[in-house]
This record gives sequence, C-alpha cells and structure tokens, in this order.
Amino acid sequence: MSSIFRTKSIDAMLRESSGETGKSLKKALGAFELTMLGMGAIIGTGIFVLTGVAAAKYSGPALIISFIISGLACAFAALCYAEFAAMVPVAGSAYTYGYAALGEIWAWIIGWDLILEYAVAVAAVAIGWSGYIVSLLESVGVHLPAALVNAPHVKGGFINVPAIIIISLITLLLIKGVKESTTMNNIIVGIKVLVVAVFIAVGIFHINPSNWHPFMPYGWNGVFTGASIVFFAYIGFDAVSTAAEEAKNPQRDLPKGIIASLVICTILYIVVSGILTGMVPYMQFANTSAPVAFALQQIGIKWGSALVSVGAVSGITSVLIVMMFGQTRVLFVMSRDGLLPKVFSSVHSTFGTPAKSTAFVGVVTALVAGFTSISEVAELTNIGTLAAFIIVSAAIIVLRKTRPDLKRAFKCPGVPVIPALAILFCSFLIYKLPVITHWRFVIWIVIGLVIYFLYGRKHSALNQIKK
Ligand code: ALA
Repeated sequence: MSSIFRTKSIDAMLRESSGETGKSLKKALGAFELTMLGMGAIIGTGIFVLTGVAAAKYSGPALIISFIISGLACAFAALCYAEFAAMVPVAGSAYTYGYAALGEIWAWIIGWDLILEYAVAVAAVAIGWSGYIVSLLESVGVHLPAALVNAPHVKGGFINVPAIIIISLITLLLIKGVKESTTMNNIIVGIKVLVVAVFIAVGIFHINPSNWHPFMPYGWNGVFTGASIVFFAYIGFDAVSTAAEEAKNPQRDLPKGIIASLVICTILYIVVSGILTGMVPYMQFANTSAPVAFALQQIGIKWGSALVSVGAVSGITSVLIVMMFGQTRVLFVMSRDGLLPKVFSSVHSTFGTPAKSTAFVGVVTALVAGFTSISEVAELTNIGTLAAFIIVSAAIIVLRKTRPDLKRAFKCPGVPVIPALAILFCSFLIYKLPVITHWRFVIWIVIGLVIYFLYGRKHSALNQIKK
C-alpha cells in the first residue's frame, strides 16, 4: 500500500528539465514576459462575463467585496505556488509539486482534478466567448437565432454553435502547433488592458451612486456565493508556473510573474466591478451575457461597447488557447509518468504536437460547451481549482517539515499561517458553491480513484525504478 505514497525525486525532475534526458526548451522568458503570460491567462470570461451573473443573482453592488474575498484566497495560494515554482521549476505545475511532496496518489488526485479544471474551464471560457461574439454581431445588425447560441434550458437555446466553432478552431491550431509567441501574447494582453482602461475611463464619469443602494441586496450569504463564482476570474496565474522550463531565471522570475500578474488583475477587477455596478442597476445584468459591453451600451456609448466586445473576444481567445494547451500538457506529463495511457503522450510525426490527445480534448470540451450553461461549468472549474490550491498549500507545510534541506529561492512568508489561510479561504469558497457542484466533483474524484487503482498504479513509471 505504501507504493501509492511513493514520491518522484525533485533532483530527477530537475535533471529531466535541464535537458540531460532529452530536449530542453529555449530559455527566453524574463519577469516581464512571465507577468504578461499570467495576465494573458487570467483576464477573460470571469471579468467580461461572470461579473454580470454574480452581480444580478448573488452579490449586487457588493460585487467588489466578492472580488476582494476571492482575490485574498488567490493571494495566499499564489504565495504557495510561488515557493513551489521557484523550488521545482519544471513543467506540470501542481501535479508535479504533488508528486514531489506528497506522493503518487496525491499527484494523481491533483492531476485528475486539473484535467477537470482545464476541461470545464475551456468550455466555460468558450461559452463566454460566444456571448461576446453574439453581442458584437448584434451591434452590427446580425441576429442569430437563440436556439443556436445557447445551451438547452438557457433562454430558448438548443445548442451553442459559436462555442463549438471556437473550440474546433483552437483545436486545429494547437494540433498544427502554435509557436508560443510572446510578442503575440504581449499584443493581446495590451489590447485587453487597453479596453479595460477605456471602460474605466469612460465609466467612471457615468456612475450614479444611487445604483449602489441597496449595497448588499442578498446579504453576506450572497456576497460569499458571489465570491465563489467570480473566483473564476482569477484562475490562470498558476499558468505562469507551466512556463518554468522556458524562464531565463526561474528561481527569481517565476514568483515575480505569478505575484505581479495576480496583483495587477486584482486591482483592475476591483475597479471594474465598482464602476460596473455604479453605472447600471445590478438587476439589469440578469439578461446579458456581455455585461461590460452592455453597461456602456446602456449609457449610450455605442463605440465603447463595440470596442470592449472586440477586446473581450480577442482576449478571451487567448485564455482559451492557454487553457487548452494546459490541458493537453497535463495529460502529456501524466501519461509520460505512466499514470495515463501512452496515447496521451504520443506526438504527431509531422506537427510535433500531442495531436491525438488535443483532438480528444477538443471533442469532449466542444460537447460540454455546446450543451451546458456557463454557470454550471464555471462552478465546476472553480471547485477543481480550489481543491488544487488547497493541496498545493498543504504541500508547502508538509515539505517544509519533511525536506527542510531543499533550496528555496523564494519562500512563502509566514508559514504555516499563510498556507493555512489559503486552505481556509479556499475551503470556505468550496463550501459556498452549490451542493450539486460538490456532488459532481465527488463523483469525478471517485471515478479518478478507480482508474488509478485499476490502471495508474500498475503502469506508473516509478514501478521500473522502485522494483
Ligand atoms: N480567469 C480566466 C477567465 O476569466 C479563466 O477567463
């Protein structure tokens, strides 16, 4: 039974990533590029879409407090991620950290959890993208039938075609192989930040303070539930750690990239949510899937609304690419470790990408995006991510005790208090998610454990070493 707690040696991982065992990636990213990478993965459907749902149904104008609460949960977790990223600067993120610190079963649980997180995040982000493209088309007079732009049970919907189309396009792009271009990412992040800045600059002059009353129409309970929903907006800072092997000076720059991208986004989110609820009565957000553009439209600034939509569409596309990319890479690492079938780490002979696994991910996520509502998938993404944050934070405490000798280029301050706060905040946000989401998550984990005991444990690459 002890084999389920076997760990992968950090020294071996570092050797793997340094290129001794094969190809290594070009080390070209500095702190600035890493911060931009984080912002490219973070700013998307959460701020551009989910703010509307959260304000109308849960938080009201106190949306700003919801953003502060989930921002704090992320800040504590980010400090833990930063310590790990500087200590184990190899691909695989939380899954790899779990393998090093807690043992194979925990690594499997995190990996399986990340598969859920990324898959449903892809679906949620694609649904958000669909909302903005529909709003953009409407602004130029093209009205698509409701049945083709919404999932069943959502506003007369049957299938969300735009969401399926964007996932299919990105799947093809990833199969052919995108050159991870930092210039392209920098441009997209620039556009995103620019439209957010335009929104702030215009919106601030159209605040009507009476829209902030009542401030908490659904009480604290609503504010906390709102926090558990808008948590989605912060997901992605952990993506910085997936670029570990391409960083020039990972020990120094990864923590900087993780923390800086999170801090900048938190500030933007707090300002945007305050202005948004000041511009339009919160109830009006119930009927829109493009709330930021909608707010500008309501005050008669049509050009601003169109600009925000264009920025949101391109910005959300970049989130989608990072999330799908992340999904295939987590499958890749788990398959290379023997915990998943080899097909997930097979590489296409011409394109040099994990084509089969990418196609598989594309089909599954397109089906989910075509037929589910954004709230359902966003909530499931959140529970998956929160669970991963909890395990990573716990692993920091464990590893400080079990491996005090390891070189820690960045140390999370105030251990064990900060990791404990991360665990507390994340657990609380999980508790605030709907019960149905809890059950879906439990079922997913149980399926994962069955697969581990029937397959992964027997096929683990560590069997070859330890026997
Ligand atoms: N934080 C990312 C978004 O909001 C997942 O789209």
